[in-house]
Amino acid sequence: MLTRAAAASPSRRTVLGPAQPAATGPDGFADLGHGARRPFVLPPLPYGDHELAPVISPRTVHFHHHRHHAGYITTLNRLLANHPLAGESLVTIIRESVGNPTRTGLFNNAAQVWNHGFYWRCLTPGGGGRPTGSIAAAIEREFGGYAAFRERMIDAAVGQFGSGWAWLCAEDDRLTLRRTSNADTPVQQAGITPLLTIDVWEHAYYLDYQNRRAEHVTQVVDRLFNWSFASRNLDAHRQLRAAPADRDEVAAPVPAPVPPPAAAPARLVARPAESRAASLSRLARTR
Ligand code: FE2
Repeated sequence: MLTRAAAASPSRRTVLGPAQPAATGPDGFADLGHGARRPFVLPPLPYGDHELAPVISPRTVHFHHHRHHAGYITTLNRLLANHPLAGESLVTIIRESVGNPTRTGLFNNAAQVWNHGFYWRCLTPGGGGRPTGSIAAAIEREFGGYAAFRERMIDAAVGQFGSGWAWLCAEDDRLTLRRTSNADTPVQQAGITPLLTIDVWEHAYYLDYQNRRAEHVTQVVDRLFNWSFASRNLDAHRQLRAAPADRDEVAAPVPAPVPPPAAAPARLVARPAESRAASLSRLARTR
């Protein structure tokens, strides 16, 4: 693993920095740095521990990355030893374990490895504010402007009850906001491409903000969001939609949407397998 100094060096940032072209992994989602290596390894941060300050302190980054994220990887590797899913991609492990009561630990740790690998790339020093790149026009079209998006993204993150995540996603030709609880992740359902996320587990902010989740979330949106990364994810989503034959190799058919109950504030999307229905109930769509 790279040292902290190496991770922050100009040469390292040349490799992983936001100015690089799209890097899509074998499952069609953003390449999170796992590659084909087994056992899974902790991907280095694309910046130094100190570079997200003052929004996120070096201490929080250190514990979050080197303890929590690393812990999920260690546990995942232990659970995969001699397991039939050993050697599969992370997304395959997630989709083959979600909703299976005999694979709960495997799902939780695999999903958290994916979520955290994605999360770190959603942040960048000097980021946040108005979007740039291809995502800018999509946000304007979907939300009616950046101000409306910002408010709804913050509301989605602040309103997640308990531990979980808030997501900006691409689905078909639309952008959506979603909340997931605990380890649940949009990639457990085919047809959804995460573009950006905010981690609202307390370990992501409690050392710096204690119970002031709204302040933390607002700072992340305004000062750290990596719009270049979001644009690359949106571009990859559009490329997959333009090449359906390739998409079939990495994802199951997109299920049909289910109309929401009249009084429900969030829409859910059905999954084809009954065993996965429980996980869907936690994949709340905020609009
Ligand atoms: Fe986390």
